Amino acid sequence: MKIPPVKGTRDFYPPDMAVRNFIVDGWKKVSLRNGFEEYDGPIFEYLKMYQIKSGDEIVEQLFSLTDRGGRELALRPEITPTLARMVNQQINSLPKPIKWFSVPRLLRAERPQKGRLREFFQWNIDIIGIDQPLADAEIIFTTIDYLRDLGLTPQDVKAKISSRKLLAAVLKSYGISYEKLESLYVVLDKKTKLPAETFEQMLAEQVPNKDTLAKISSFMQINSIHELKGLMKDGSEELAAYKEIAKVLYTLKIMGVGDFCVYDPSIVRGLAYYTGIVFEVHDASSDLRAICGGGRYDNLLRDFGGPVISATGMGMGDCVLEILIKEKGLLDKQVPKRHIEYFVISLGIDEQADEEVYRIIARLRSMGHSANFSYKTAGLSKQLKEASAQNAKECIIIGDEFKDNKLVIKNMATGEQKLVNYDEFLSGLESG
Ligand code: HAM
Repeated sequence: MKIPPVKGTRDFYPPDMAVRNFIVDGWKKVSLRNGFEEYDGPIFEYLKMYQIKSGDEIVEQLFSLTDRGGRELALRPEITPTLARMVNQQINSLPKPIKWFSVPRLLRAERPQKGRLREFFQWNIDIIGIDQPLADAEIIFTTIDYLRDLGLTPQDVKAKISSRKLLAAVLKSYGISYEKLESLYVVLDKKTKLPAETFEQMLAEQVPNKDTLAKISSFMQINSIHELKGLMKDGSEELAAYKEIAKVLYTLKIMGVGDFCVYDPSIVRGLAYYTGIVFEVHDASSDLRAICGGGRYDNLLRDFGGPVISATGMGMGDCVLEILIKEKGLLDKQVPKRHIEYFVISLGIDEQADEEVYRIIARLRSMGHSANFSYKTAGLSKQLKEASAQNAKECIIIGDEFKDNKLVIKNMATGEQKLVNYDEFLSGLESG
C-alpha cells in the first residue's frame, strides 16, 4: 500500500523546492535590504503561549501534544508569540529598535482550501521599540518592496490599511463597552469572508440595538480617507487614530508606493493582540484570501510578562502568494532552473580516459565549480542529452583526442567546440 501525504501538507519535489527557495530567497533578500536581521525559535512551545493572546481562532487550530513529562505543548501556528518571548528574555541587552525577520514553518489544523494548508512557510518582519506610525509604514513598505520586486503592480495588489485604535474609538463613541470589543472584532473581521446575510446575522447577535448596528454598518462603508477626515471631531480619540492612518499613508506616498495603498475599514484582523494600525494585502480582484496581514501590537510583550514596549509587524504565507504569481505568469520565468557549469563526458576510448572523468570532476568541484557526469556508459548524443537536461553550460569531452593529451570543450548554448590541451585546461582552471 502506498502511503499518501497527510491532509494539508505538501511534498516538495525538486521543481517545487525550486519554487519554495525562490520565494524564501526573495523574502530574505528584501528583509536584509530593508535593515532586518534574521532570527528563529523552536517549532514547539508551551501550549499556553498561544492561549494568552492569539485569540480563539488560532487556539482552535492548534496541533497540540503532551510530552512524556506531562508538559502541554503546541506546534507553532505563528511566530509572533515566540518573538515576544525571546525579546522579553533579553529585553535589557538587546539594542533598540529591534528589526527582525524570520521564515518559520508553521502548522495550523485548518480546513485545507485554496491558499490555506495545515503546514506552510510564513515570512515575518517585525519592528519592536518604535511607537511612531513611521514603523508601521516601514513594515508596509518592506512588504510592498518584495511584491513589487516580483513584478506585481498596484493594478495587481493592494495594501488595505485600517486601525483598531480608530475602530475602538468609534465603537466606544457609539456606546459599545470595552469588554465587547474583542468579540466584535472577530465578527467584523469576517465581513468580506462570509456571505453578507451570515455576516449581518452574526453582527446583529453582537449588537442588538438597531441604531448602533446601522451606525457601525455605515462607518464600515467609508473607504475614503478624505470622507473619514470630515467625520473627525477636534480633540477626540478618533482624530488621534485618524492622524496615525493619515501619517502612514502619507509616508508610503513619499516612499513611492502610495499607489499600492488604500484605507479600508473592513480590515480588522483575526488575531486578538492587535492594538493600532492593521493591514492586509489582497489581490486586486479579491478572489483569493489575504496574501499577508499584520499590524501594531503594543501590549503583547507586556502580556507575556515583559515591559510595555510597542511593536508592529506582518506575516506573509507562501501559499496564496504562489497561486497569485503563477496566475500572473510571473513565476515560471523567474524561478531559477536546474543548472550546472560543467558536464564531463567520456567516450570510453580506454579505462584511463574513463578514470580521467572522476579526476576532472573532483578537481572542478574542489575548486568550487559545479560539475556532473553520467553514470551510464552511453554514446556521445545520449550523454549530451543528459547534459542538456541538467542545463550544463559546457561539456568536457574525453574522446580519441585524449591520446594526444587533448580535450574537446563544447559550449552548450552556441554548440561551438574547441580542442584544448589537457594540462593547459587544468592549469587554466587553477589560475582562473
Ligand atoms: P495571520 O493573519 O494569522 O497573521 O497570518 C498571516 C498570513 O499567513 C496570512 O495572510 C497568510 O498569508 C498566511 N497564512 C495564515 N494561515 C495560513 C494557512 N493555514 N495556510 C497558508 N497560509 C496561511 C499572523 O500569523 C501574525 N502572526 C502576523 C504578524 C507578524 N503580525 C505581526 N507580526
